[in-house]
Amino acid sequence: MSESTGVLRLPEAVQFGRGARAGIPVAVARFGRRAFVVVDPFLAGTAPFAETLSGLDAAGVTAFVYTGVVPELPLDGIDAAVAVARGFGPDVVLGYGGGSALDLAKLVSLLLVHPGPLSRYYGENAVPSPILPVVAVPTTAGTGSEVTPVAVVSDPERELKVGVSDAALVPRVAIVDPELTVGAPPTVTAASGIDALVHAVESFTAAERAPEWGSTLPIFVGRNRLSSVLALDAVRALGSWLPRAVADGSDVEAREQCAYGSLLAGMAFGSGGTHLSHALQYPIGAITHTPHGVGTGMMLPYVLQALRVASEPQLAQIGEALGVRADAQAAIDRIALIVATIGIPRTLADIGITRDQLPRIAELARGVTRLAGNAALPPTRELLLSILEAAYTGDRSSLS
Ligand SMILES: NC(=O)c1ccc[n+]([C@@H]2O[C@H](COP(=O)([O-])OP(=O)(O)OC[C@H]3O[C@@H](n4cnc5c(N)ncnc54)[C@H](O)[C@@H]3O)[C@@H](O)[C@H]2O)c1
Repeated sequence: MSESTGVLRLPEAVQFGRGARAGIPVAVARFGRRAFVVVDPFLAGTAPFAETLSGLDAAGVTAFVYTGVVPELPLDGIDAAVAVARGFGPDVVLGYGGGSALDLAKLVSLLLVHPGPLSRYYGENAVPSPILPVVAVPTTAGTGSEVTPVAVVSDPERELKVGVSDAALVPRVAIVDPELTVGAPPTVTAASGIDALVHAVESFTAAERAPEWGSTLPIFVGRNRLSSVLALDAVRALGSWLPRAVADGSDVEAREQCAYGSLLAGMAFGSGGTHLSHALQYPIGAITHTPHGVGTGMMLPYVLQALRVASEPQLAQIGEALGVRADAQAAIDRIALIVATIGIPRTLADIGITRDQLPRIAELARGVTRLAGNAALPPTRELLLSILEAAYTGDRSSLS
């Protein structure tokens, strides 16, 4: 894409604000009378969720509550959920929780309509037709999964995490209520919040490519005019408010700004795409089993340092949006400071990666072409290895 063209893929309704959860029953009832509810096990025991269930009942919706959500979504958990859902026979799937619960809701909806195994749909544009309607309610801020065409799974047969990316996976309705994120502990707030910042920054610094309007577009089309507006506003919100939300989880204004930033970042990367931090995180996450945002957030300052020259104007705009100044290096340094302030590990060594693993990680990340190929520089082996080496030692100076 380019600065004069644009693509967005969005739900038919996005409802955002404190108390927005009151709209869940109406949104669900629009799609039918039987709802399979995929809920994070922690959230299942909370008062707001109990109110949602009462609301569904009052709206004449029969709900089946499924709590078997495992963080980072191991593949066998998906098949188990689909088997239970098939027995219930829902009209609609409600996802309520963090990215893992929302992604599970999307994949259950996919496999209720289309035959398995799930691996048929790995990659891009492999889902033949619509899936069961999904209503998505995030409780982290976040993955943006409530608005994205993506679901990510951990497949033990693969050396890296894998994704299903298809417009059919965009939830029909996203209901984003910042109050639902208030209970998230600092580690979850930090890991999910930095992932949102990575989404915003990577979609804003993605490669620009000429669209081939006559063909099926790739899911990640690169930097474009429509996603860039959203990405930059997401940077503005998250840059100043994420450290506050981590420091004081009861600060509802900070929670609200992070939920807003995460939502916008999801809308932005749902078409603009992410790039090298995510491509590298796929093998790193599979090796270390660290939360997704820990990997992407840790990698971001190194990735941006390596791309600084290629993305100078965009990084300068990010610097301004972060409230520093319109300067690429200042932007990268501020992002590194945010990562450190919220307690994300600084180096690959800190999360248990050994130096001899770096070449294989580089090779695997290069293979995730829809992400690696979305960067502003060609993802050569040398480029990825230099980023990994810097992230291993914690020294960005070798990349400048
Ligand atoms: N679909 C997408 O577009 C997309 C984008 C990025 C990441 N992901 C995927 O999302 C997953 C990560 O999601 P996540 O970061 O939201 O974390 P998560 O859903 O894995 O949840 C992490 C932990 O936080 C807890 N939690 C969630 N909300 C809470 C709340 N309000 N209060 C207290 N505890 C709460 C959960 O119980 C869980 O223990 C990964 O599998 C990642 O690959 C998907």
